[in-house]
Amino acid sequence: MSTDERTETTLPVRNDTDLMAVRQQVRAMAQRLGFGLVQQTKLVTAASELARNTLVHGGGGSVSLEPTSDGDGREGLTLRFVDEGPGIPDVELALRDGYSTAGGLGMGLSGSKRLVNDFSVDTAPGRGTTVSITLWSPLAPFGRR
Ligand SMILES: Nc1ncnc2c1ncn2[C@@H]1O[C@H](COP(=O)(O)OP(=O)(O)O)[C@@H](O)[C@H]1O
Ligand SMILES: [Mg+2]
Repeated sequence: MSTDERTETTLPVRNDTDLMAVRQQVRAMAQRLGFGLVQQTKLVTAASELARNTLVHGGGGSVSLEPTSDGDGREGLTLRFVDEGPGIPDVELALRDGYSTAGGLGMGLSGSKRLVNDFSVDTAPGRGTTVSITLWSPLAPFGRR
């Protein structure tokens, strides 16, 4: 794999146009890493929800796309959504299906968590929120590792 495919990028999340760019870049990088269509779609769906949260609840911020490898034939893509907004006072509550402080569907956080392999939230009131997710490709067949 060339170094280009492994390059980390950070994109702004400031408006709806940025959200489209995030979706496009996530799909493109997932494709380059060899993710199948179902996995690409899972990651793009989660990214779309989390980037919208960064914009709507966090007041804007950024997302970084970080290719990663477990050294055993699995390629992963980690996405980190960062804002310096109000933070989430009760993460467990925010992760409940249907919970929204903004009259939304309240399925963004919980739904995203179900779509990916790793999901973590680092947040504190007044300090902002970072949500990190990773999706791993299936293990490569023997001989290709
Ligand atoms: N980046 C964020 N900053 C502050 N609060 C957030 C953030 N992301 C999510 N939340 C809180 O978690 C709740 C649940 O998020 P989500 O499941 O995406 O539902 P929705 O976006 O429809 O409200 C939001 O209503 C909001 O209170
Ligand atoms: Mg949401």
